Amino acid sequence: MINLQQALKTALEAAAAGAEEVMRGYGDEKPRVSRKGPTNLVTEYDLRSEEIVRKIITRDWPEHLLAGEEGGVSGSKRSLYKWHIDPLDGTANFAHGHPFFAVSIGLFGPDGNGAEKPLAGVINAPALGELYWGARGCGAFRRQSLAGRGFREKRLAVSSADALRDAMLNTGFPYDIYERGGEILHPFGRLATAARSVRRAGSAALDLAYVAAGVADAFWEAGLSPWDVAAGLLLLEEAGGLATDYHGGPYILGESRNILASNGPLHDKILPYLE
Ligand code: IPD
Ligand code: CA
Ligand code: CA
Repeated sequence: MINLQQALKTALEAAAAGAEEVMRGYGDEKPRVSRKGPTNLVTEYDLRSEEIVRKIITRDWPEHLLAGEEGGVSGSKRSLYKWHIDPLDGTANFAHGHPFFAVSIGLFGPDGNGAEKPLAGVINAPALGELYWGARGCGAFRRQSLAGRGFREKRLAVSSADALRDAMLNTGFPYDIYERGGEILHPFGRLATAARSVRRAGSAALDLAYVAAGVADAFWEAGLSPWDVAAGLLLLEEAGGLATDYHGGPYILGESRNILASNGPLHDKILPYLE
């Protein structure tokens, strides 16, 4: 297996450089936006962030596969290691000047036993002052910048909530919600009246990080892509959480269509709302 601390170092550097680029476009002026679909946006900052992230990963790991949301797949098809890059998760938020967005980088590859697993992950949310990172078997962590209180760092652990009434849930809506409205909104309506509160904040990567950090108790969404979830899955696993599809089967990156990520105790209580 590769040196995971070296891989994490690369991911931290690449996510910081991507985040710096994205922050150039955040704030005063509305960034130039083009459309991949009716509501699926891409900005010049998505593209530039990905370019920078790819450069840094390729510099350190030239033999690995890269799969980015904007740039597609590159590198050796024979490599067992694949970096999943979302150069700007939460583009709609970013384009509206809403701070809930992040650069997300997750590395998947064989664990000690040869099975494909999340190996390292970084989620950098620069407008929130939040950085999440972790490596397989070494834990996951968050560094927050708190006004007047400096930096706070903690090891991530999922919550222990076991009743829906006490739970804060995160969800997201896929871009094809216009065609699949009922299917997506039905569980949303039912869970919104069963849980303490439901949030639709607009970044799947951060939604997962929040479950890992014990801020939210669970997250569900239909139709996400590997780059949305790769880094978050590493954090969740290291924080003691659980991810499955809507039927309770193992969540398989690139294959599973839907995800339920939770603290564990709430998992079986939420599944019936999704099936
Ligand atoms: C989107 C965000 C959003 C989720 C969408 C994703 P993007 O990613 O993660 O929260 O609901 O399904 O596609 O397009 O901003 O990278
Ligand atoms: Ca995304
Ligand atoms: Ca994106």
